[in-house]
Order: sequence, then C-alpha cells, then structure tokens
Amino acid sequence: MHGSHGAGHSLAKTLSWPHLIALGVGAIVGTGIYTLTGVGAERAGPAVIIAFGIAGAVCACAALAYAEMATMIPAAGSAYTFSYTAMGETIAWVVGWSLVLEYSLACSTVAVGWSGYLVGWIESAGIHLPHALLAGPHAGGVINLPAVIVALGVMGMLIAGTRESATLNIILVIIKLVALTVFVAIALPAFNSGNMEPFAPYGFVSTEIMGEKRGVMAAAAIVFFAFYGFDAVATSAEEAKDPGRDLTIGIVGSMLVCTLIYMLVAVAAVGAVSYLELGNSPEPLALVLRSLNQPFAAHLVALAAVIALPSVILVMMYGQSRIFFVMARDGLLPRGLARISPRTGAPTLITAVTGLSVALVAGFFRLDEIAELANAGTLIAFVSVGACLMIMRRRAPDMKRLFRCPAPYLVGSGAILGCLYLFFSLPNDTITRFLMWNAAGLVLYFLYGRRHSLARQVTAAESAAAE
Ligand code: ALA
Repeated sequence: MHGSHGAGHSLAKTLSWPHLIALGVGAIVGTGIYTLTGVGAERAGPAVIIAFGIAGAVCACAALAYAEMATMIPAAGSAYTFSYTAMGETIAWVVGWSLVLEYSLACSTVAVGWSGYLVGWIESAGIHLPHALLAGPHAGGVINLPAVIVALGVMGMLIAGTRESATLNIILVIIKLVALTVFVAIALPAFNSGNMEPFAPYGFVSTEIMGEKRGVMAAAAIVFFAFYGFDAVATSAEEAKDPGRDLTIGIVGSMLVCTLIYMLVAVAAVGAVSYLELGNSPEPLALVLRSLNQPFAAHLVALAAVIALPSVILVMMYGQSRIFFVMARDGLLPRGLARISPRTGAPTLITAVTGLSVALVAGFFRLDEIAELANAGTLIAFVSVGACLMIMRRRAPDMKRLFRCPAPYLVGSGAILGCLYLFFSLPNDTITRFLMWNAAGLVLYFLYGRRHSLARQVTAAESAAAE
C-alpha cells in the first residue's frame, strides 16, 4: 500500500513551513470571505458573525486532528490516507470520493467568485461585456467564461511544476491579506449599531424559510467554506522537508491567522451596511466600500481579489491532483493516472483531468450550490479525520507522534459532532446530491477499485505463497 510505490511514483521533497503556511492561507482565505459573507448574511442576518465563530470552532477541532494525523502519517492524500490506515479501504474510498467534491468543487466555487469580482471590476470601469458569456444558464447567461478561463489557467500553472507555483502563491497571499486589512480599516469605523437589529432574524437552527434554509446554522453550514483548505497542507506531507515541524506550523498557524481575520471582516461588513443589501451580491466587499462612498478602495479590493483568488484554486487543485494521485497509486483508480512527469515532478495527466472538470462545473453552475456540495464532501472528510484521531490513539497509543493533539477525545468528538451538525444544516437538495455522488462512487469502487486494489493483490499473493 503506502510505501512500496516504485520508481516514477514518489514526489520530490521541496517544501518547508513558510511554503506550507502560504499554502494554507492561500487555500483558506478566498471566496468564502470575499463572496459567501454576503450569502451568509442573507441566511442569518448580522448573526453571520456568530456563524463564522461556529464554523471556525468546528474547523479548529478538525485542524488539530489533521495536524496529529498528518504528522503521524506524512504521506500525500490527507483524510483519504488516514482513513485507509485507521478504517480500511472501503471507508477510505468513501472519504477519498468525498474529498473529490471538496477540492474540485471548491476550485469551481472560487473560480465563479473570482469571475464575480472581475466582472464587477470591469463594469465599474465602464466596460460592458455580453452577459451571455459572463454567467451560467441559471443566471440568464450561457457560460461563465471568466470562471472557465481562470480554472484552465491555474491548471496550466500546476502542470508547469509545483515549485514555481508555491513561490507565486506567497506573493498572492500577501496581496489578499492587505486587501482585507484595507477593507476592515475603512468599514469598521463606519460601524452603525442600527445595522445589528434584528441580530438573528431567522433564529439559530437551520429551518426552511421562503424556500431556502435560513438561520445561524444554515449560514454556518455555508460560511464553513471560508475555513477549509488547511487540509491541503496535509496533502503535501510527502513533499515537506521536515513533516513534523513544517506541517504543525503550517496547519495550526494558518488556521489561527484566518479565524482572526474573518471575525473582523464579518463585523466590519454587517456593521457598515444592512445585511439585506449584502444579500446575493457577487462582490459584497466591493459593494460595502462603494456604499461607503469609497469607489477607489472598492476598486482596489476587487482588483486584489481578481489577482489573488486564483491562489486558492491553485492550492485546492494541487490537493485534488494529489488525492487522485494516491488513490491511483493504491490501485483504486487506473494506475496510469498517477504517472509523474520526469521533467516537472508533477502528476500531469491527473492534474489535467482535474482542471478540465473544475472548469466545466465553474462554467455552468450556481456559486452557492457548488459551495454547499463542496462543504458536504469536506464535512464528511472531517468527520473521518476526527474518528481516525481517536481510533489511532486507542489502537496505537505509543506510536510516535510529532504533534500530539491536546484532549484528543474531546477534540475528536467535537470535530465529528460539529461537522455532522453542520452537514445536516445544509439544504436537503445538497444532502441528496452528496448521497448520489457517493452511491455512484461506491458502484465504481466495487466494479473497478476493489478488483485492482494493490493492498488486496498483495494480501492475495501473500496468502497464495503461504499455501
Ligand atoms: N476556504 C477557501 C475559500 O474561502 C476554500 O475560498
């Protein structure tokens, strides 16, 4: 299984912790805060601030569990690999298949969010492009072409090699954080306590109101999107120079930085304008600044989003290609997919398959629906990591752990229960789509993966030799 990979199937060790923090923050801060803050405010009212707090607390538990598991099993593949070790192949498949939703659909979501800021930016400069090419069929267009282009562009960068992409990522992370700082610096002084009333117009629990799930938990289930990505750091474990130190600092550090920033941005946004205005804006942060009579700042923040959001796609697409890579290496997907280019050290074919699928979804589907399905996949993967943490503590208490999660049973249970509560706060349609996706995945597993699994072939060969 993991370990006997053969020539041409191992990744080069090129990354250290500054790369990993940048990789983490690069993946975490994105469309979640830049765009879904608006959707969250629409679903919870000003209490979207609390929704950010809840989603952040649940993610913090998952991040701690991830940090322990990633340093204990420093192999590419994150939750899929942990589940393989702790719970066996079939559950690992379900987790891996759910991770496909997380990474691929997060890329598509961010591509659509990016397109929203780009179009707003171009239009505020007085240039008008044909609507048919700027939005999918759900919004009266034909295709969201900017979203498709950015997805394919990032795919090209990844195919050109990880190293250059990681360095560029650091510059983009800085741009993104500076823009959020500018936003808070302008919007927070305009705080109006009147905008906080009513604070939680739809209550706490996620309930269907006016055809949509609303309430603080409904908002938490969507803004949860803003927090993940730190796990993409864990997928690069095999490429870290010193996995113990680098992964711990990378995962926990990037999580803390982001939580702080989000709380500030959320307070600044709902304090400055009515949550009703934030509603379904494709570029809510720019909208807040414009309504504060700061068109230049709005322009700058939108520009920063346009320049920097592709870094999120970069990291998530990187994570996705590594998940497919490991699943193929284990024989659950065709092994040819895992081939690594000798020139760049990147799995070219699998990156291309990922990039094309991401572009297709981004071109035609609605942002909040894609984000919710990505969240469903992520939440189930996080549940599995919480379980892995506790199972491995029980099964192998003395095994060396470079990072030991404090209060593991509390944190593990917090991750599992918190993620399940968020999962069931998602819209029913999303849950149905998630179940359909996994049913299709299991069919594929029983028809292909189970028969070609390397671990099963090795076990079969061993028992044949013993006879
Ligand atoms: N957390 C990432 C974002 O907000 C996926 O875009």
